Amino acid sequence: MTQQISGARRTLSKIKQFIRHSMVAAASLLHRAGIAMIVSARKLVRLTEMHTIDTTSDRFIIGLPELHKKIRHELDLQRREYDSYSYFHGYPYQSLGILQVFGERGTEERFDAYDLANLIRKSDHVLDIGCNCGFMAIYAAFRTGCSADGIDINPYMIRVGQHCADYLQMSDRVKLIAQSFLDYKTERPYSVVLSFATHWTDDKNYRVRLQDHFLRIHAMMEPGGLLIFESHSADVGNPEFYQALEEMRGHFSWDGCRTMARGTRELYLMRQIAPSS
Ligand SMILES: C[S@@+](CC[C@H](N)C(=O)[O-])C[C@H]1O[C@@H](n2cnc3c(N)ncnc32)[C@H](O)[C@@H]1O
Repeated sequence: MTQQISGARRTLSKIKQFIRHSMVAAASLLHRAGIAMIVSARKLVRLTEMHTIDTTSDRFIIGLPELHKKIRHELDLQRREYDSYSYFHGYPYQSLGILQVFGERGTEERFDAYDLANLIRKSDHVLDIGCNCGFMAIYAAFRTGCSADGIDINPYMIRVGQHCADYLQMSDRVKLIAQSFLDYKTERPYSVVLSFATHWTDDKNYRVRLQDHFLRIHAMMEPGGLLIFESHSADVGNPEFYQALEEMRGHFSWDGCRTMARGTRELYLMRQIAPSS
């Protein structure tokens, strides 16, 4: 009887997964059709205003199909070659509205919700850990003028981000690195670090004690630098999570947290405390 129940549960979960997968695939197709329409609309404008528009003046929109072809190629390679778990049914975990990139979580919306325009300055050197496509690093540099490094273990997502950074002509200020954060070293300390939903990962490629995650970050930061830390939803209400955070009071200072994403995540603004010499 128990075996039958657990068998039925497994089947139900497979059906749910299949439905979710099909819905995301359908959303992606709609998104693709939307891009085709935007490009066609632009071409129509180009046709009617031929006397004023030269071929470079609207390269941003007209070039999108070529950019998206490169992105689809990377996703295709990921589907065939990547032997690790792929987030969001094989599509990017992040979307990027300014380049019409389809993904799960909106970069521009998160940037605004987390008030990053007021937290990051032009003079900042930013590290984005487990950056996925690096869209937050790219968009932070785009909006604030800062320089940013993004690191992610998934080389396909990093290449998607690189195509976008090239397209935006921002590769001089944004460096995307395909490497595990566990192996990452830097000569130049960071004034701002983003650790968004990445202190432990569903793909199991990063499973360290939360305290060790913070200590590694601490060592890479300028004295008094700012760590912007977003929890997972599973952390919210978990006593072990809060206990680990409290143990960091000697290394970072912060006041409470902000509740984000309809109460399912918490955002912490943590100031690095320089080790006393
Ligand atoms: C849940 S996603 C979060 C992405 C991004 N930080 C965000 O919030 O939009 C976790 C990311 O961590 C990456 N990752 C997993 N293990 C890693 C590791 N050891 N080093 C660097 N990145 C890793 C995954 O490839 C994935 O892109």
